[in-house]
Amino acid sequence: MILISEKISLKNYNTFGINAYSRYFAQANSTNEIINALRWAEENNQQLLLLNGGSNVLLTKDWDGLTLKINLKGIQITERSEDFVCVKAQSGENWHDFVQWTLNQDFGGLENLSLIPGNVGTAPIQNIGAYGVEIKDCMYQLSALEISSSKIKTFTNAQCEFGYRDSIFKNEHKGKFVILDVSFRLSRRNHVLNTAYGAIVSELEKLGVKNPSIQDVSRAVIHIRKQKLPDPDEIGNSGSFFKNPVISLDEFDKLKVKYPDVQGHAFNEKMKVNAGWLIDKAGWKGKRFSDAGVHQNQALVLVNYGNASGAEIYELSEKISEDIFEKFGILLEREVNII
Ligand code: EPU
Repeated sequence: MILISEKISLKNYNTFGINAYSRYFAQANSTNEIINALRWAEENNQQLLLLNGGSNVLLTKDWDGLTLKINLKGIQITERSEDFVCVKAQSGENWHDFVQWTLNQDFGGLENLSLIPGNVGTAPIQNIGAYGVEIKDCMYQLSALEISSSKIKTFTNAQCEFGYRDSIFKNEHKGKFVILDVSFRLSRRNHVLNTAYGAIVSELEKLGVKNPSIQDVSRAVIHIRKQKLPDPDEIGNSGSFFKNPVISLDEFDKLKVKYPDVQGHAFNEKMKVNAGWLIDKAGWKGKRFSDAGVHQNQALVLVNYGNASGAEIYELSEKISEDIFEKFGILLEREVNII
């Protein structure tokens, strides 16, 4: 059995805070409840929208079907050696709370990914990343329910086909699986710190830390993120709205001639250009149209100041894309899922 409600606002279930309605709505606290909800949707011919943390979606319209919110909870140590530990987290666990739990146990690997909004179960879909680390660097495996067969399948790290903000769940397996739990292989001692990202080094200096621990790195990341990125509990947003575009070395050199201060870094024999810099340079940073805007400290983040509709945010993103293409000849790709 699963409780199905009707005509529910999704405002509190997406970090953009968009007040879109779902015709039907259910919350699943167990795998069985997920299976029951999937069955209900099939029997009643309703299309399915899966929501977990709701931190990477823009709802541009009401959902004429069933929205299923995944609430599976729990964290478990599944293997332990002297050097490593394997930790399994259920998909409905809040990502940042989970990262803090690992740090409280002194398990290393996820510290650079502190304060990223969203839940554990959606983190692998877009291979979340920040400050030189991506989830693929310590994800061991995950289990997922295949929607068509209701069978549980295990995916190893390699089988997830991770890329930059990308995985098999955004491509070949898009919309076909519900991720149930994710396992991580974390260090118990001799933690390898990743402080290569310039801002972390300077933040640690500011904090007066000489020999940083994994907890110090997490503190530094939290400080940096708090300065630059809006808290979704205060201003609706979905983190970076666009991906940083990857262009050829040739194209980058040409851009550099015209804009000597263009920002980017090497990526797989190409160049990843800072989309935040492009949008900023084009003059969009801090712009506001009614309640839809471009964040004043990070031009890559679009924000909802209160009552913006998803369509208004989408329209703003279209205008920005068109302008960036006109000015720099670069096509921006959205990171956020548009519904
Ligand atoms: N920049 C500007 N103006 C801006 C924003 C950025 O000029 O308004 C330039 C600055 O020079 C800055 C550089 O762009 O040094 C890079 O900015 P930042 O360090 O904020 O990183 P980002 O490339 O904009 C990416 C991720 C973030 C992640 C940070 C830190 C993507 C799409 N975004 O942003 O991830 O937190 O690096 O590692 O790759 C997310 O995906 O939602 C997200 C927040």
